[in-house]
Order: sequence, then structure tokens, then C-alpha cells
Amino acid sequence: MNILTPPMGWNSWNTFGSNISDELIRSTARTMKEKGYLEAGYNYIVIDDCWSLRERDENGRLVPDPAKFPHGMKDLADYVHSLGFRFGMYSCAGVRTCAGYPSSFDHEFVDAKTFAEWGVDYLKYDFCNFPASADGKNRYATMSMALKASGRDILFAACNWGSGEPWKWMKSLGAHMYRSTGDIADNFKSFSGIARSQIDNFCMSGHDCFNDIDMLTVGMYGNGNVAFGQACTDEEYQTQFALWCMLGAPLMLGGDVRKMNDFCHALVLNRNLLRINQDSECRPPYIAYKGRVIYNGPDAAGGWEEYPDTGLTMFKHLSDNEFAIGYFNFAPKPGEVLFTFADAGIPYGSNVALELTDAITGESLGLQRDYYNLVIPAHGCRIILAKLVNV
Ligand code: GLA
Repeated sequence: MNILTPPMGWNSWNTFGSNISDELIRSTARTMKEKGYLEAGYNYIVIDDCWSLRERDENGRLVPDPAKFPHGMKDLADYVHSLGFRFGMYSCAGVRTCAGYPSSFDHEFVDAKTFAEWGVDYLKYDFCNFPASADGKNRYATMSMALKASGRDILFAACNWGSGEPWKWMKSLGAHMYRSTGDIADNFKSFSGIARSQIDNFCMSGHDCFNDIDMLTVGMYGNGNVAFGQACTDEEYQTQFALWCMLGAPLMLGGDVRKMNDFCHALVLNRNLLRINQDSECRPPYIAYKGRVIYNGPDAAGGWEEYPDTGLTMFKHLSDNEFAIGYFNFAPKPGEVLFTFADAGIPYGSNVALELTDAITGESLGLQRDYYNLVIPAHGCRIILAKLVNV
């Protein structure tokens, strides 16, 4: 089973937590079809924790909670498939899920078979309540083999939050993606910390196994299950989405797509950002600038303020001799973020320029030589597409 570009879709957890139902999944699928999400590539619809009864049935099988899923999972999967999506579910390597429901420790093969019978195409596999005496790596291997023995192609989305540095070994066990960090919360500090903590590890992410820095919170605006801390602004959501796209991380939406405002709707469907994320070469970006941001606006204490280690410029090779340049400002004030072309391998004196286009707005920025620095808003970003031109 080949997963050639970062998986895309929607997951119930960030907004809905335990408040999930058959109707939620059906209406989300309908909206995603009607509003162009499926066409843009968001093709996995995933039910997270809290979908089952508290106990297995007499045959040791997991049972969907009939109050939440009165038609069962097969019927729901059929519906989701009929609209053209793939259907995802959730279990856990421990003895209970994080929310306390039965999970797959010592039931890996029977559960994988059950998921396959229901028509599941994607399994998120969490790590709560894992026995101290057991071996985590081996249990992820067990579920990977159970899925392969299930008779159905099922994307294996391992989720052990970075425990034991999964970027070094999860791919070798057959996983198609692996969570590398703790849970995201719907605030700037959380998502920027998560993304920045993994930048160096994306060199181990690519075809068939992607580093997963968690579901997005774009569009939540402080409502929902992971809405802790200061809610994000539009500018901050743009930065979140751009970080995930530049890194080539899986794009699992976590907001309520049925209520997405126009700004976030346009953001997550932006063709250029998605093209950068889904580029067929799957190259990680490298860091072309990392340093301070200086604010010298009217209210600056003492005329200027320095924010160390808040400016970041990422440079990403795309297919067809194109490049994406991401300027990020993690400081709470606007300031200049730098990009010197020599740092991308284009020294002064070369007869080469970059033809630049703003990836988000589509605005042409002309032919530039030697350097291109930009003032970036507080907590903001600019994403630019570049082509090499001989001059
Ligand atoms: C863990 C995972 C989350 C979510 C919850 C569900 O915290 O990291 O993404 O699946 O469990 O309980």
C-alpha cells in the first residue's frame, strides 16, 4: 500500500471530543463533498476516541455505542464511501483508550479484523494506558501486522506522541504516519511549539511514512474540545496552516467544517499551499534563516525591541524546478525576517534571479536578485513560490 503524499482529511477529536455521532459524521462528509474539500484532497474522515461501548461483546469484539451510532459502523462506512471518502477509526495500543474505552492491547488481530469488516481504511492508534511491562515498539509492530492480515488496505496512523523517537523506527514497522508530539491545543504557543520542535526530524518524513504533528485547529476560534488558552487570530491560523504545508505534514482538519468561516475555508483550500504540502518529491524544507526579529514601531520601548530566535525562513525544493520560501515571525510584534539567496545556493555574482509569486494571494513579486527580506506581522508568515531565471 503506497501513501505517496501527506494524508489529508478530517478528524473528530479537536472540536467534538466525546460528543460524536452518526449524524455528525454524515453531515461532515456531505459538507466536505459539497464545499470542495474532497476535490481538494481531504479524503479521510476519521472518528477519534469515544465511539464504542465501555465493554466488549461476548465474543471479545468492540461494539459501537448504539446511542451515538445507531446504524453501526458498516452502514456509516458505506455512506462515507458512497460520497467518495475513505473511512477512519481509532483505537489504542494500551488496555484502555485515553478516554477510558476498551482498546486493542492483546486484541490486535481480532480488532483489525473487525475494522476491516466494517470497511475501515485508516486506523489511528494511540498510546494511553499501556502496561509498563510491555514493549511499545513491539505492540505497534503487532498492530501493523494485524492490519496487514486483516484482508483490507488500512492506513496505519501510529500515535505515540514522540515516545522513543518514532521518527527513527516507526516507518520500519510499516506505519504510514506517526504522531511525533503531544496534543495540540487551539492557541499559538501550542501549535508553533509543536511544529518548531519537529523541524529537524522532517528529513526522516516522506513517501509512505509521514511525521504527523497533530490535527489542525484552524477555524476553531476557541470553541471545542482542545480550545485551551488564548484563541487564535486569522493571522495565527494562516501561520499554522502554512507551517504544516511547508513541512509536508499530514493535513487532518480538526475544526467543524460545517461552520468554517470564509477566511479559514479559503485558507485550507488554497491551491498553492496544498500544492506545496502535496508536492510529489516530498522534500523537507531547510532553514535558510533563523534569528532575531527586531521591532522598531511607534510603541517600541526604547525605540526598538529585540526578540531572539523568532525569525525563521524555510526553503523547500518542489518538483519541476520550483521552490517554496516560508517566512515566519514567532515574535508578538512585526519585524523583518531575512532571506539571502546565497543561503539557498545562489551566491552574489551568479547570473540567476528568482521570480517570486505570493503563494497565498497569487500576487506577482517580480524578479529578485541577491536577497529578499520581508516585514512579517506578529505571529504571521508569508509563503512565496519561486522559479529560477537566468538573467
Ligand atoms: C490522545 C491523542 C489525541 C486524541 C485523544 C483521544 O490524547 O493524542 O489526539 O486521540 O487521545 O482520547
